[in-house]
Amino acid sequence: MQTKIRGFEMQYDDTGGAPSTSLRMPLVLIHGFPLDRTIWAEQTRGLADAARVIAPDLRGCGGSAMPPDATTMDAYADDVRGLLDALNIQRAIIAGVSMGGYIAFAFYRQSAARVRALILVDTRAGADSPEGKQGRDDNAALARAEGTGAIAERMLPKMLTPQTAATRANVAQDLRALMARQPVEGVAAALIAMRDRPDSTPTLAQISVPTLVIHGAEDQLIPVKESELLRDSIRGARLEIIPHAAHLPNYEQPAAFNRVVKEFLKTRVPSAN
Ligand code: MLT
Repeated sequence: MQTKIRGFEMQYDDTGGAPSTSLRMPLVLIHGFPLDRTIWAEQTRGLADAARVIAPDLRGCGGSAMPPDATTMDAYADDVRGLLDALNIQRAIIAGVSMGGYIAFAFYRQSAARVRALILVDTRAGADSPEGKQGRDDNAALARAEGTGAIAERMLPKMLTPQTAATRANVAQDLRALMARQPVEGVAAALIAMRDRPDSTPTLAQISVPTLVIHGAEDQLIPVKESELLRDSIRGARLEIIPHAAHLPNYEQPAAFNRVVKEFLKTRVPSAN
């Protein structure tokens, strides 16, 4: 589906169209970098009986256009809120993986009243270190010089467990293709937005909605201690570790991922059902 929000065309999936699901709590799935909404394919299918699942392509990613204003975590969050407005949705469960988590923090800061619950997947609260910022600039230059295929090659080994990379060739190939087909300008803009994102650590103590933190046990990109910090700093948060998964547990182990999300919705967000 496609709608014009904040002056640009945004593509999204919305599996909550049927009358029987229209009363369900909307669940917004925000993808990470350098990806698009298709990374949530197993969730838009597998969670549709538990929530109204909405998955946008962020600006400059997948099929969404790249607007001319500066891309920041706040701008991405504004875009997500623009989509909720366009769909007449007041409150939603906001879920984000990695960069999607950075955006979820920005969304919460801007519009806490519109957040029914949070699901934070393989993400971190802190800002980039000076070395991290340099790495963003290097990757943006690489994307511009050699295209997003070069970014895909660099990222792929960190995204999946060695076991999956060795034994599930289609999973690795599909992920490489998904990263490689992202538009250069969207990838470069996301890198600069991540470089300049604020420290969300002070936000954690302000979060007062049910929060599920999920982490792939073998994530090399963001260590599990970052999710332990989220669990310890957000009141009442629960942490679920997904075995045999690296940076994208929703993609690598969708059945286990969907199980913990459904359990969370049933026990902690009962009005969502
Ligand atoms: C992501 O998966 O969204 C990014 O790798 C996050 C990051 O680089 O900080």
